[in-house]
Amino acid sequence: MIRLKNVFWQRARKQEKPVLSDLSFSVPQGGFRWLLGPSGAGKTSLLNLLHIESLPARGDLEILGKPVSADTPRATLVRLRQRIGMVHQNYRLMPGLSVVDNVALPLRLQHRPEDEIHDEVHAILKWVGLGERIGVPAANLSGGEQQRTAIARAIVHRPGLILADEPTNALEEPQAHKLLDLFDELSTMGTTVLVATHNEALIRRLPRPSLYLERGRLVREGE
Ligand SMILES: Nc1ncnc2c1ncn2[C@@H]1O[C@H](COP(=O)(O)OP(=O)(O)O)[C@@H](O)[C@H]1O
Ligand SMILES: [Mg+2]
Repeated sequence: MIRLKNVFWQRARKQEKPVLSDLSFSVPQGGFRWLLGPSGAGKTSLLNLLHIESLPARGDLEILGKPVSADTPRATLVRLRQRIGMVHQNYRLMPGLSVVDNVALPLRLQHRPEDEIHDEVHAILKWVGLGERIGVPAANLSGGEQQRTAIARAIVHRPGLILADEPTNALEEPQAHKLLDLFDELSTMGTTVLVATHNEALIRRLPRPSLYLERGRLVREGE
């Protein structure tokens, strides 16, 4: 469950114009939403805010049913963040770490046993087609391989909320379809999923409600 009520966000305190203005919407647990809008509309900013990389300047924000504000204890925010899987637009992998160690990170943060981590990580890397690339440093991967590593890292710990920022732009079409089918299946099983995209064909293939941003405002919401 995500809930925003009159949420504003700005990059710097003194910045005059907020990047996100007066956003109010909610997505039930297990809901799937496309996040649409022209470049510069604020899609990445909204996903980063929902990933709790910063706090709203104003308004009420609830993520996975928990209030997120300056009053929320830091430890609560850290735990909450561990229940979110994020595919960043620019992947944000650790360049010096291997594929396998990048993907293991969310499980290591949860202090899961290493044998369990090994099995989970290898299974997911096989699924994204990187089974042969596990030992390669992230810095040596192609764009598509980096994106698939970032996707594996975002889903390996079975998060309650998946945020994906243009997660298919470096993928071949069959891979993109496979990924979206997985996101759809995860949402059916109770994971909330938000996917920012420009890919009209993808949206037509998987018709789901959308949130449409323009200049930091929610201008349309619906089927
Ligand atoms: N690093 C940055 N520094 C300053 N302004 C930025 C930065 N990144 C984005 N912006 C601005 O913030 C606004 C929202 O951008 P963004 O969230 O990236 O939109 P989208 O993902 O929809 O393209 C735009 O006006 C953009 O120009
Ligand atoms: Mg963006």
